[in-house]
Amino acid sequence: MAIERTFSIIKPDATRRNLTGAINALIEKAGLRIIAQKRVRITTAQAETFYAVHKERPFFGELVETMTAGPVVVQVLEGENAIKAYRDVLGATDPAKAAPGTIRKEFALSVGENSGHGSDAPETAAIEIAQWFSGNEIVG
Ligand code: RTP
Ligand code: MG
Repeated sequence: MAIERTFSIIKPDATRRNLTGAINALIEKAGLRIIAQKRVRITTAQAETFYAVHKERPFFGELVETMTAGPVVVQVLEGENAIKAYRDVLGATDPAKAAPGTIRKEFALSVGENSGHGSDAPETAAIEIAQWFSGNEIVG
């Protein structure tokens, strides 16, 4: 099993409802370690860059608006197979399809307001971590 790092965002719908600690509890219960964390506001330009892969999709405008609607908590998580492990903890993109006990099943409001983001591959994890954290902010 490989120790990996992944990038996480606790999205504005969750910070608005004061769910940061509840989500962190599920992250830690899954064996993932929060090795960097800060609360920030994402600008429109940053959200457009972050989700550039989706820029031709019909939901892109709504996605950027949702991600800039309030504060987020950005994190680096570390653990065994952290990228897949965290996506498993998040659950399906659509909370109606997410398994019981997952972050999205327990907390998400809709596909758009689905409480969390997790990197989908090692390459994107490395890019996303570097976009939000400098090396000395990550303490593994
Ligand atoms: P994320 O990138 O945020 O971790 O989510 P994901 O991999 O599970 O899903 P992805 O396909 O990358 O979609 C990114 C985010 O776009 C929003 N979305 N809205 N209205 C819609 O049909 C729709 N589809 C996707 C969601 O907030 C999703 O997390
Ligand atoms: Mg994605």
